Amino acid sequence: MRFFKEAGIDTLSVNIFSWAALQPSEDEYNFTKLDKIMALLKENHMNVILATSTAAHPAWMAKKYPEITRVNFLGIKRKFGGRHNSCPNSPVYRKYSARLAGKIAERYKDYDNIVAWHVSNEFNTGCYCENCERAFREWVKKKYKTLDEVNRVWNTAFWGHTFYDFDEIVVQNNQTECNSPTESEFPGITLDYRRFMDDSMLECYKLEYEAVKKFTPDVPVTTNFMAFFEPLNYQKWARSMDFVSWDSYPTPDEDPANTSMWHDLMRSMKQGDPFLLMEQTPNVQNWQPYNAIKRPGVMRLWSYRAVAHGSDGVCFFQMRRTRGASEKTHGAVIEHAGTDKTRTFREIAELGGELKALGGELLGLRTDARAAIIFDWENWWDFELCSGPSRDPEYKSYPKEVMRWYRAFYERNVNVDIVSPEDDLSSYKLVVAPLLFMLRDGFAEKAEEFVRTGGVFVCSAYTGLVDEHDLAFLGGYPGPLKDLFGVWVEETDVLPPGDTNSFVYKGLTYEASQIYDIMGSHEEDTEVLSEYGSDFYAGKPVLTKHPFGEGAAYYFATRSTPEFYREFIGDLVHECGIRELMPAIGGVEVTCRENETDEYLFILNHNAGEVVLTEGAYGTDLLTGKTVSGSENVTLPGKDVMILKRKK
Ligand code: GLA
Repeated sequence: MRFFKEAGIDTLSVNIFSWAALQPSEDEYNFTKLDKIMALLKENHMNVILATSTAAHPAWMAKKYPEITRVNFLGIKRKFGGRHNSCPNSPVYRKYSARLAGKIAERYKDYDNIVAWHVSNEFNTGCYCENCERAFREWVKKKYKTLDEVNRVWNTAFWGHTFYDFDEIVVQNNQTECNSPTESEFPGITLDYRRFMDDSMLECYKLEYEAVKKFTPDVPVTTNFMAFFEPLNYQKWARSMDFVSWDSYPTPDEDPANTSMWHDLMRSMKQGDPFLLMEQTPNVQNWQPYNAIKRPGVMRLWSYRAVAHGSDGVCFFQMRRTRGASEKTHGAVIEHAGTDKTRTFREIAELGGELKALGGELLGLRTDARAAIIFDWENWWDFELCSGPSRDPEYKSYPKEVMRWYRAFYERNVNVDIVSPEDDLSSYKLVVAPLLFMLRDGFAEKAEEFVRTGGVFVCSAYTGLVDEHDLAFLGGYPGPLKDLFGVWVEETDVLPPGDTNSFVYKGLTYEASQIYDIMGSHEEDTEVLSEYGSDFYAGKPVLTKHPFGEGAAYYFATRSTPEFYREFIGDLVHECGIRELMPAIGGVEVTCRENETDEYLFILNHNAGEVVLTEGAYGTDLLTGKTVSGSENVTLPGKDVMILKRKK
């Protein structure tokens, strides 16, 4: 407690993996240790994020109720061990996890220092047991009502997979349609299994949510996410959470734009409400190929980056380094040496002091983003499961395609949200929907409405091939988006790395790579902004603009280099009158958050060396108290940050 105070740490997430201690047998609960800890935290004026402890079930439970452990992708029944090993459809797991959450809430409900609930920990998925199989059949029955409909949407006539009875429907793993977790002979079925598994986990979360809310209706509830974690549709989960929190563990050599994209996703999932950085290592991880230490200043810089993108807090894992098992080599605020005389501790204490001095100034700020990128988990699942257009993981990566577009906004210092196709688009002027291979029902109408009323909408190659059942659109791609884009795609060419094409945009030649949509024809009023430079489709459109109502829709038929996206997005941003917060400087990231009267410009220097700032960098730096005018040269040292406050 003394060290935490010294470090300026005022909030602790506790009780994360304590199920075995809290419930040593079926009929026995023991809160002695947690009582002591809760009392200690209260005495020391610490805020508590209280966890429900249900991410790892006790050994006795696995012995007594073997149904509780999962069956893995290969169909192997797991024994006790690891974490995330509880079957989400096990009635035993559901009963005892919700009961424990309720008991904890009932016991500690009067502690006014509980600031949030932390349900389970990093929900994870993938069970293929008989309980799951039975539950899947029920899920399918509820969704499709009749077997005729099931056979239609899953196109089971292919290879004679027609179902005659619901009990012929099976789990989707290596024993059935899937050669690997990302390959399926029947993506429509596997896609539904993923949806079902995601729903199953979400139900477990909701049971605990209800259990704690019963006793503490006013305490907000969260569970910690893990960036682009594929198996769980976080955008859907966020709707059942009071606030979003996530754990950020970038690789030591990460491209800074990556983590920033994830932060933007976290902020956007609850329509711009602040989120919480629940975990980051203060210094070192233990599970990367090379666990380089965060260089001096980097922990501070990355902490402010979270705040710059919308976090209202900065937390660490782990507080004190565990003695045994796998995380004994993972960094901590208090290391095995047990002292505050470490570089890491000093850096944390400095950051703690700064955050304390900032007080509540930055809390609750909002981000005014006029541009958005659509990211759709279900589209990710379905595109990945599709056996075309390539097996190359680079070509097949939906997050990488999203990053091609995100980077352009990031490098131009434009605030951007990352939203779901189900979100309201009306507050944006520019929306980019990269690689929307699968279109949800109703999305085309929404996109049309957005453009009709003045929006600028962009999509990229391999868009609009299938509907939400993975059934191909008939009549030409991009299916129901054809009218909006004023084009239809007849064929798609996919060439190996290095086998590229080219196109000219505003007088400069850019590389076209990986995937090449070839248009069949286009509407008369579709403007062809650029054409392929070579191959048998030389002269065919590669970039088109279609006026639609008050706005316009752009189709980019291939993939290119960062220079092209930066240039093109720059043009669209200008067309839409969207603000670039500061002229771009390599390695310097800029975001802006605001309240009703002021705005706060975060300038983060990811470079090792100093940079010179001029235009756009004006206001009072909250960290140094200095005022800068934007006309004189100001230097920002390597790995340093400025937070410039100014009137709106
Ligand atoms: C996750 C978990 C923690 C811990 C860290 C290690 O984020 O939530 O329990 O395992 O990873 O990096």
